[in-house]
Amino acid sequence: MSTKTTTLVPLTNISDEGELLELERKYCSWGDTVHYLEPPKFFERAEGCYLYDREGTPYLDLQMWYSAASFGYGNRRLNAALTRQLSKLPQLACQYLHPEKVELAAAIARLNESKFGLEGRVHFNVGGSSAIEDSLKLVRNASGKNLVFAFMGGYHGRTLGASAITSSYRYRRRFGHFSDRAQFVPFPYCFRCPYGKKKEDCGMYCVKQFEKLFETEYNGVWDAKANESEYAAFYIEAVQATGGYIIPPPEYFPALKKILDEHKILMVDDEIQMGFYRAGKFWAIENFNVDPDIVVFGKALTNGLNPLSGVWAREDLISPEKFPPGSTHSTFSSNPLGTAVALEAVRMMEENDYEEITQRKGAYFLAQLKDLQRRYPKVIGDTDGIGLALRIEICRADGYEPDRELTDKIFAEGMKGDLNARGQRMGLVLDVGGYYKNVFTLAPCFDITQEEIDLAVELLEQLIRRCAPDRL
Ligand SMILES: Cc1ncc(COP(=O)(O)O)c(C=O)c1O
Repeated sequence: MSTKTTTLVPLTNISDEGELLELERKYCSWGDTVHYLEPPKFFERAEGCYLYDREGTPYLDLQMWYSAASFGYGNRRLNAALTRQLSKLPQLACQYLHPEKVELAAAIARLNESKFGLEGRVHFNVGGSSAIEDSLKLVRNASGKNLVFAFMGGYHGRTLGASAITSSYRYRRRFGHFSDRAQFVPFPYCFRCPYGKKKEDCGMYCVKQFEKLFETEYNGVWDAKANESEYAAFYIEAVQATGGYIIPPPEYFPALKKILDEHKILMVDDEIQMGFYRAGKFWAIENFNVDPDIVVFGKALTNGLNPLSGVWAREDLISPEKFPPGSTHSTFSSNPLGTAVALEAVRMMEENDYEEITQRKGAYFLAQLKDLQRRYPKVIGDTDGIGLALRIEICRADGYEPDRELTDKIFAEGMKGDLNARGQRMGLVLDVGGYYKNVFTLAPCFDITQEEIDLAVELLEQLIRRCAPDRL
């Protein structure tokens, strides 16, 4: 047995960044994060739309923690709800009830009843991936099947079950065989149509290709005699998030849902990133006039404070008779700090017209981005947006071939914090997504002002001019 004494915590607060980075290199697993920048960046403070580094330089944040902090860093109303709960009932085992959990579940269930005309119930967990796992259990429990469809370009998380339905093979490659990996179907990514068609005259070719799967049992998914599919559900993101904020044409989801209903396949709507008004409606799917069977949510529900995620499902899938106590469990699932903040967030959404706010600000922002695209056609191939979910596709001089290298360069330059914001030093926080990692997926704070949108576009222009001087 070792006789050495151990020290669990550093004896002093370490303020030297070099020393902290050395410790990070030695003691932090890199598996739970991504080293996008070398060295990774430290931040000290956050407020509104801005992050502040250790020197106090502001960074205008256009990704807001992957859309988890949509209501602004340090949102006073939500922070106050957290501190109120902290002094009232901060901890409680999930086997007991607290009012905030019940009120929150009722609020979401009633809202969905009014939106989808369907009765249902709400089930809580902590992170997005965990809620996805719970939804997979709901699907399996209801159908007795474990195969599902999902989209190419789709992202549903990194736990094992969520990885199995997330398109990227890179996320699965080192972790053995995924026997219930989803069957991935092309998403209507019209700027780069997977079938090489043009949106104007494709006649919804992609939906027809999906429908063909059910024409004969020899296509591998359907037994016409038994009138039964081997696939229990289709996991969708109404607006593909990590895939590059791709907005499908309005007629796509209604056509898909019709096929799913005809073949008794559930539609599971992953709203983890796009829910809570990111795409201009409470749920992104509302933009497409489709009623899903299951909705999964997380992220912005607590504005990135004490995490809370959840699943809403149709009553016949989630009633206590069908999905009895103990079907899933997580110690922190309906934690009172999370439910209290979430309830306040839902009240805030009820009192403020976020539909109008996100659509108006998003339309203004998109118009500025279109103008930027017109002025830099050798850098920007596509811009699009819905609500305050906006995309900029960085391309080579032909305006089409993805330019990942330039995208990375612009991203890294933005993080240097040395842009000129009308005389003040500033950085720009961008997020890179897309199938070819050449898309800036913009998820600005809902409180962003028109002046800050103008500033964001000015900073983007500075970055383009700095990083692609040969393509102006
Ligand atoms: C659409 C979508 N689904 C699921 C997840 C996974 O959520 P979490 O990272 O909280 O596990 C994410 C996270 O980015 C997401 O964007």
